[in-house]
Amino acid sequence: MASRNGRTPGKWASRGRFIVLDGPDGAGKSTQARWLQSELERLGIRTLLLREPGGTSAGEAIRKLLLEQREVGLSALTEAFLFQAARAQLVDEVIIPALNKGTWVVCDRFTLSTLVYQALAGGVDEQAVEIMSAVATGGVEPDRYLVLWVPSKIGISRRAHRANDRMEAKGEKFMRDVAAAFRSQAERNPSRYRLIDGSGTPEEVRQLLWKQIQPLLPVQTRARKTKSQERRAKSQDS
Ligand SMILES: Nc1ncnc2c1ncn2[C@@H]1O[C@H](COP(=O)(O)OP(=O)(O)O)[C@@H](O)[C@H]1O
Ligand SMILES: [Mg+2]
Repeated sequence: MASRNGRTPGKWASRGRFIVLDGPDGAGKSTQARWLQSELERLGIRTLLLREPGGTSAGEAIRKLLLEQREVGLSALTEAFLFQAARAQLVDEVIIPALNKGTWVVCDRFTLSTLVYQALAGGVDEQAVEIMSAVATGGVEPDRYLVLWVPSKIGISRRAHRANDRMEAKGEKFMRDVAAAFRSQAERNPSRYRLIDGSGTPEEVRQLLWKQIQPLLPVQTRARKTKSQERRAKSQDS
């Protein structure tokens, strides 16, 4: 990881791990991120759950402007700058200090969302967004970048009961472009992203996700079962 304002996440073994869950709306990111935090905590790993944009005072204010204040006009380029501004603050103020203390970070959305929503679906130059992301993160990259994926039809129907935010209000074609872009980016860059099928039951998705997390665990916890694995093992015994 590159140096940022003289502060760099350390490389020592006790450094916290940085896990990102990204993907289209309704893929189950927030559901799985909450579960992942509780599962890691259960293994004795201090874990911070963050969402983008947000996680700092500045970030939450930017979040309101970006997602809730729909009467305020914002071009896709302006959106890109605002998401990146919130990200820069989050990386500096929260993520790097947490990782350096040995705390794990689970983050709901990160750089791929800006590339997908503002560039690939929103029309801002792709390279410009990549450069902005590199500046905003100072080169800090997730240890696991998971892309939970569902077709936009499933995503839209899962979220049908809630009011649309600014991004979701861009319409069904936009959401289809978003879902397609997440999938193609993850397929094209398998060393950077792990594509996870989010269309199964929450339990099925958990298992796929946990497989990706297990190799990151300290060796002494790696063999431990998740709660649901324990339940299944018990019911098979009895
Ligand atoms: N695997 C799943 N199958 C069915 N419904 C799900 C699943 N995962 C989450 N949900 C439900 O779908 C809705 C959207 O899930 P959420 O985790 O908020 O998605 P995201 O954060 O990706 O938009 C919620 O009501 C949630 O309870
Ligand atoms: Mg969510």
